Amino acid sequence: MAEQYGPNAVAGPVSRRFEGKVALVAGGGRTPPEAGDGIGVGAATSMLLAREGCRVAVLDIDDAAANRTVKAIVDSGGEAIAIKADVSVDTDCARAFDEVREAYGTLDALLNTLGITRSRRSVTQFVDEEWTAIMDVNVRGFIHTAKHAIPLMTNGGSIVNVSSADAVVPSHGNATFAASKGAVNSLTRHIAVREGYRGIRANAIMPGAMWTPIALTKLGTAVGADKKPLPASDWEAAREQRRRITATQTEGTAWDIAHAALFLASDQARWITGQVLMVDGGASVIAPWDVQNKPERKLADHTLRFVE
Ligand SMILES: NC(=O)c1ccc[n+]([C@@H]2O[C@H](COP(=O)([O-])OP(=O)(O)OC[C@H]3O[C@@H](n4cnc5c(N)ncnc54)[C@H](O)[C@@H]3O)[C@@H](O)[C@H]2O)c1
Repeated sequence: MAEQYGPNAVAGPVSRRFEGKVALVAGGGRTPPEAGDGIGVGAATSMLLAREGCRVAVLDIDDAAANRTVKAIVDSGGEAIAIKADVSVDTDCARAFDEVREAYGTLDALLNTLGITRSRRSVTQFVDEEWTAIMDVNVRGFIHTAKHAIPLMTNGGSIVNVSSADAVVPSHGNATFAASKGAVNSLTRHIAVREGYRGIRANAIMPGAMWTPIALTKLGTAVGADKKPLPASDWEAAREQRRRITATQTEGTAWDIAHAALFLASDQARWITGQVLMVDGGASVIAPWDVQNKPERKLADHTLRFVE
């Protein structure tokens, strides 16, 4: 089982709390093994949902990635279908949810786990092309999926949008990305208010810096003090720095976000809606001077438990 889920998977008891339910995970594709030991939030969420008895529609713009997640689920005895779609295209989303209706007849949960960014441009370096590219996927895409998911949620449902810590504690990342994630938070609250009467809840998760394939790419393109790309040999140091800025002294993984997403999507969260949850190992609450003045802070053993 550990092989199916990857070396960093965080285990947990299985309650089959999603038995009989149907979920669509947008951005649920899994990167190939050569992308490293990281796993994306969508793939981890899809796999945990299936493990809890959920039938999962894995939507991704990358067909091969979606099928990789489906294979991992089916190989573990779960049920899933792959759907190729670009969330920024309304007609793609309409077709995707038609496929869910045909396959399963209903929908209980929508989990928007994807997001794109570009290089670390500030507002003074802003280019219009980036606004269109990022906002089309990160915001318009989440509107499209919700638009087509809600009519399928005839017995009520839950929407979980993956935002970013950047929405409220911006890093030196991309200006449009930060703005897009602020919009995801507002959109989530809007849906909670407008659709609550139908029994539909909406919540968002703001992940801090975690170890996923996107981070691998970002670290590869991140510039060091000398303005040159960070060489692979420095990645471990960069990851250690990311651990140090958290209260728990650990780096998060997609599994940490996936577990939070499952809770918010589940019936156990039936009275939680319109909330944005920070999942960042406490990085956003630790005082900056505490990190700076205590370089001797020892790193905790961050070894994660394997799925059994
Ligand atoms: N990795 C981090 O450190 C970090 C930090 C804060 C927030 N986040 C957010 O967490 C979420 C997941 O991040 P991740 O690192 O797991 O991402 P990822 O890049 O590993 O996975 C994203 C998936 O979405 C798919 N995708 C991209 N554009 C799409 C589109 N237009 N239509 C359909 N599918 C599309 C990709 O093919 C990929 O499979 C994102 O919203 C990201 O912004 C990540």
